[in-house]
Amino acid sequence: MTEAEVLNQLIAGRRTIKPDQYTGELIEDSIIEQILNSANWAPTHGYTEPWRFVVFTGEGRAQLGDFLAYQDQPDKNVADFNQMRYDRLRNRPLKASHVIGIGMKRGNNPKVPEIEEICSVACAVQNMWLSAHSLGLGAYWSTGSMAFTEQTRNFFGLGENDLSLGFFYIGKPAIPLPAGRRLSGIETKVTWVR
Ligand SMILES: Cc1cc2nc3c(=O)[nH]c(=O)nc-3n(C[C@H](O)[C@H](O)[C@H](O)COP(=O)(O)O)c2cc1C
Repeated sequence: MTEAEVLNQLIAGRRTIKPDQYTGELIEDSIIEQILNSANWAPTHGYTEPWRFVVFTGEGRAQLGDFLAYQDQPDKNVADFNQMRYDRLRNRPLKASHVIGIGMKRGNNPKVPEIEEICSVACAVQNMWLSAHSLGLGAYWSTGSMAFTEQTRNFFGLGENDLSLGFFYIGKPAIPLPAGRRLSGIETKVTWVR
């Protein structure tokens, strides 16, 4: 295969694989470092390199699980407290090998608006996702209600001008890669001007 064919196959074959679909095995930190290094090659406007990551593994995953469950339901004594939901959120990070908290560190270059920094972080996450996929690992970008909160931003150690952008779960897949699905082909999303 040509380099382009290999790349296209990796891009089209990458899938969302969620924590329930992981074996629970731990991945070597050195492999995760390789994946993180791919993030660092994302493009930016003005070399701002705004991606910041917090890697939760080992006991760190339990800290993240406690945080997520508590943020969702801080009071166990209310009538509608849902223990099953609490436990599900708390245990989710433990099903992954590593969970990477995704952050955007706002620079002070006035030529670079915030939206460009967010775009760059998304490029960085896609790099990690492709890198994980190429290594045979499952990965999943989770947002949900906690991704963009001030509490999560603080939990990641970010400042008030920064943003948290969710959680990137990585694990060894216990399932074959699911088939990809797109609702319509690219031709329905493109306008050519000639
Ligand atoms: C920014 C972003 C946030 C996402 N957040 C969630 C989420 O909170 N819950 C979820 O089930 N999937 C989430 N996903 C994964 C998408 O659901 C998934 O990528 C989509 O179903 C396409 O599947 P594929 O990645 O296998 O092609 C997110 C994806 C992106 C890019």
